[in-house]
Amino acid sequence: MPHVVTQACCGDASCVYACPVNCIHPTPDEPDFGTAEMLYIDPSTCVDCGACVSACPVGAIKPGHRLPDDQQRFLDINAGQYGDSVGDVRFPVDQKFRLPMAPMGHPEPLRLSGNKPVSVAIVGSGPSAMYAADELLRYPRVEVTMYERLSTPFGLARFGVAPDHLETRSVIRLYDTVARDPRLTILVNTEVGRDLTLDELDARHDAVIWAGGAPTDRRLDIPGVDAPGCASATSFVGWYNGHPDFADLDFDLSGERVVIVGNGNVALDVARILTADPDSLASTTISRRALAKLRESQVTEVLVVGRRGPDVAAFTLPELVGLADGHANVAVDPLELSAMPNLAAAQGRPGDHVAAEKVALLREIAERAPRPGKVIRLAFRRSPEEILVGADGSVNGIRFGINEIDAAGSAVATGTSVDVEAGLVLTSIGYRGVAVPGLPFDDTRGVIPNDRGRVLDGSTPIRGRYVTGWIKRGPSGFIGTNKTDSTETVGMLREDLEAGALARV
Ligand SMILES: Cc1cc2nc3c(=O)[nH]c(=O)nc-3n(C[C@H](O)[C@H](O)[C@H](O)COP(=O)(O)OP(=O)(O)OC[C@H]3O[C@@H](n4cnc5c(N)ncnc54)[C@H](O)[C@@H]3O)c2cc1C
Ligand SMILES: NC(=O)c1ccc[n+]([C@@H]2O[C@H](COP(=O)([O-])OP(=O)(O)OC[C@H]3O[C@@H](n4cnc5c(N)ncnc54)[C@H](OP(=O)(O)O)[C@@H]3O)[C@@H](O)[C@H]2O)c1
Ligand code: SF4
Ligand code: SF4
Repeated sequence: MPHVVTQACCGDASCVYACPVNCIHPTPDEPDFGTAEMLYIDPSTCVDCGACVSACPVGAIKPGHRLPDDQQRFLDINAGQYGDSVGDVRFPVDQKFRLPMAPMGHPEPLRLSGNKPVSVAIVGSGPSAMYAADELLRYPRVEVTMYERLSTPFGLARFGVAPDHLETRSVIRLYDTVARDPRLTILVNTEVGRDLTLDELDARHDAVIWAGGAPTDRRLDIPGVDAPGCASATSFVGWYNGHPDFADLDFDLSGERVVIVGNGNVALDVARILTADPDSLASTTISRRALAKLRESQVTEVLVVGRRGPDVAAFTLPELVGLADGHANVAVDPLELSAMPNLAAAQGRPGDHVAAEKVALLREIAERAPRPGKVIRLAFRRSPEEILVGADGSVNGIRFGINEIDAAGSAVATGTSVDVEAGLVLTSIGYRGVAVPGLPFDDTRGVIPNDRGRVLDGSTPIRGRYVTGWIKRGPSGFIGTNKTDSTETVGMLREDLEAGALARV
């Protein structure tokens, strides 16, 4: 039985380069790589050699015959991407003509005059920083110094990824290996902008790559959002993961219902943690303070609310599978789906296999008999209008406007609304980059303006300044997406070095 990619896939494409028969897609040079929710193995060409298993940093690839029960669905999901035959592919790329050999990724040596080593500063030590360092350290004459404001490295791989996602968190082992390279120095407790300026970095290094991520949340601008009892998922995630900026917060879990606004993967993480059996979290890296609070929690229902329809829900299919087939008790009101006749069209939409799978799985969940215990309810077509505040000034609910979904999949307000009681409202509507002293900032997108990683002042690249990760492209994509992103940025840095465009210190 062929090998299968499962939930933990973080899209770094290491398996693509390891597979001798090029059966893992999309590859980074195929057009839909940037939007794919995971990678998929073509069962008709996989020769079961196992090379991809060794290459995968998070243990996401398994032989089909050894899949545990809660991952069986991934057999169909992998195969489903390839259709019934090679001529019936789901990917837009024409796989009939794909090369039989996996793409190769060997770097050319650096072409530099003189023997002086190259010194590069990287600000941040999250996934994008680690992949940039790994890429730079492929060249023997390069030295890297990483500056990290926290006392422990690896950014959201440590302080974002949910504690129960053990396989995904194992990517930290890969970063530990990179960190052991003698040509890499990581200076922790060092915040650029507070302890050190960019000009000071210029005096020490030939180039600076900013990899500071998107540390804050997008603000939901509705009345009542600042009342006690309404908080961001960013702070809640930081709290349960022991992030020093959030570890001392307190969340009121004495109410029966928590509402989460937004239905991305972060919302699902938060919902899972809120409804998990605390004993099952005890052996994870969850903060002890958060665990103690979760043990006292009175929450019995977490309502995750999206403003658009289920076919375009922001959560990814692998995460929905993990929720539906794992330990979580997830429910969908059948009316949520029957109220949307156009969903049938989504299921038949050519090329949108993932949307069809999502809708099919949601239908399956909606038909399940209710289970007792803490439940995660998924609701759709509701936009937050107002956080409702009681006489004591704290949150006691939220008002949602009900939407219709137009032919393009956009939410259109119907003018009717519904109030939902809640003891805690968490906004999970995305992260946001913040401006960095000394660098330009695109306030609308929350990113540092750049051309393939070269920081731009207007349309002119600023000498020696580069950017990668969430602060380069915005807060989307998986851990592994940062690998391709950082490879691109390092490629630009390399071009500039070889062209003599950097002032070598
Ligand atoms: C809650 C959550 C859960 C996630 N779970 C998953 C998952 O399960 N699987 C998956 O594939 N992806 C997951 N992701 C996405 C993944 O974490 C991101 O794609 C990735 O972390 C972005 O990397 P980055 O390096 O750009 O930013 P970050 O990971 O945020 O790293 C930025 C680093 O820069 C440091 N820094 C910032 N400013 C400064 C400064 N001025 N000086 C020095 N240091 C600075 C920060 O402290 C931080 O360590 C998750 C994201 C979130 C928010
Ligand atoms: N396990 C994993 O692989 C994992 C775990 C966590 C995070 N991540 C990744 O990290 C990235 C960030 O995740 P995220 O969940 O923070 O962001 P996200 O995927 O962008 O989801 C944001 C959600 O907020 C909604 N939203 C935005 N503005 C809103 C508003 N004004 N009112 C109501 N709803 C609003 C969006 O709705 P619309 O869709 O309608 O815009 C969407 O449902 C994603 O790429 C995610 O896949 C991955
Ligand atoms: S088992 Fe071998 S042939 Fe199959 S996907 Fe993995 S590397 Fe490719
Ligand atoms: S995490 Fe990377 S190596 Fe593992 S399956 Fe996904 S893309 Fe392949």
